[in-house]
Amino acid sequence: MIKALEIIQAEHRSMWQILNVLEECAHVARQGDTPERGLVDLVLEYLETYIDEVHHPKEDKYLFSALIARSENARDLVEDLQGQHGQEAERLARVRAELVNKDLDLEAFAAVAEDYIGFQREHMRQEEDNLFPLAREHLTESDWQGIEDAFANNKDPVFGEHTHEKYAVLRSRITVQARPPLGLGAPVTRIKSGGEPVLELRGVSAHYGRIAALRSVSIQVDKGQLVALVGSNGAGKTTLLRTISGLQASSGGRMLFEGRDLSQIKASQRVAAGIAHVPEGRQVFAPLSVEDNLLLGAYSRTDKGAGVRRDIDRIYDIFPVLRDKRKVPAGTLSGGQQQMLAIGRAMMAKPRLMLLDEPSMGLSPLLVSEVFEVIKRLQQEGITILIVEQNAAAVLALADIGYVLESGEITHSGEGWALRDNEDVKRAYLGI
Ligand SMILES: Nc1ncnc2c1ncn2[C@@H]1O[C@H](COP(=O)(O)OP(=O)(O)OP(=O)(O)O)[C@@H](O)[C@H]1O
Ligand SMILES: [Mg+2]
Repeated sequence: MIKALEIIQAEHRSMWQILNVLEECAHVARQGDTPERGLVDLVLEYLETYIDEVHHPKEDKYLFSALIARSENARDLVEDLQGQHGQEAERLARVRAELVNKDLDLEAFAAVAEDYIGFQREHMRQEEDNLFPLAREHLTESDWQGIEDAFANNKDPVFGEHTHEKYAVLRSRITVQARPPLGLGAPVTRIKSGGEPVLELRGVSAHYGRIAALRSVSIQVDKGQLVALVGSNGAGKTTLLRTISGLQASSGGRMLFEGRDLSQIKASQRVAAGIAHVPEGRQVFAPLSVEDNLLLGAYSRTDKGAGVRRDIDRIYDIFPVLRDKRKVPAGTLSGGQQQMLAIGRAMMAKPRLMLLDEPSMGLSPLLVSEVFEVIKRLQQEGITILIVEQNAAAVLALADIGYVLESGEITHSGEGWALRDNEDVKRAYLGI
């Protein structure tokens, strides 16, 4: 992954979430209620300043100009996108103009806001779908290095840490005021937990040699719940999932799956017992076709034949793109499609508990929302889910229960939303 593009994508993701807040306000206005003006004001302030001061210069001054220098063919697209930058500002100014009206015309406000949101989203989509691939193709390593250096330059008035701090404060004020759903579309419908534990970890430890990667971790996942484990790089998230699925030995504590002691179930038997693990980095079998990958997911099942066929069709209904591509080698799929395939393959084992390791990693903002939609759907189908994520804001908005893991220890836990509003957690993990 190219660092400079990762930075731009992260900014897109952030804007996408802010646009969701604005969309919610427009929706409220459409219902005939006055949206919280303070919140709209903050959102507009963010969009007006952040995009102009931080985001566009990255593209206009660096990415776009480097690309034109390398590829004459990219010129039309780049000029189009540059033109759109100007039009975005005009559209945003119309939203502002409505808002400063003392007697807010709800319909008019909603209309200009929706117009701006749609335009801005389409613009980001075009950049990610059309411009990024061209840039990947044409820019050289030294081009990327130059861009990265510019983005990382703390002395630059635009890109330095001070600017980041300023926007982090603004974002955090928005997050505090905006109730759900921030960043994820429709509010989550929660399946009530029957309080019946599917997975219980009590004081579990794991070591790499003498280094402790997990220290006395206790968590509980009840039937039907979606439980999220968040934490920064190297916190031990992957280790925890690998310990549950048996790929990593535990060095202490107890693990129970549906009341059975997991130490009595060999790693190789755990899939058949009902635990499916979707590992980090979506490891599909690249040379095999999409359909063969799905079939492999069913290897532990005793009911071969019609049942398996039915389930493959069901997975194609959930992920239509996999049906279209069922005959092509999995390695040719895009990152997002491979993630869907990895999840589909795990579903083929008919698990009662699914372990997901960073399904959003490396995906564009759009795909992240799509993958999270799918995960919600899995939960609605009755699968109990333990998901590990660095993308804490998004996953905690979705989760019934969340845990924070720091250096191998659980430091916070609670309902997803409560955890997301927790000041410590916000500072440390939500980048706000
Ligand atoms: N095979 C290994 N041998 C030795 N140390 C390891 C090994 N795998 C992981 N570690 C260490 O264990 C700690 C936890 O790693 P782990 O991969 O579980 O973290 P993580 O939370 O999943 O991180 P990331 O967000 O990067 O995926 C880290 O300090 C890591 O360096
Ligand atoms: Mg990991």
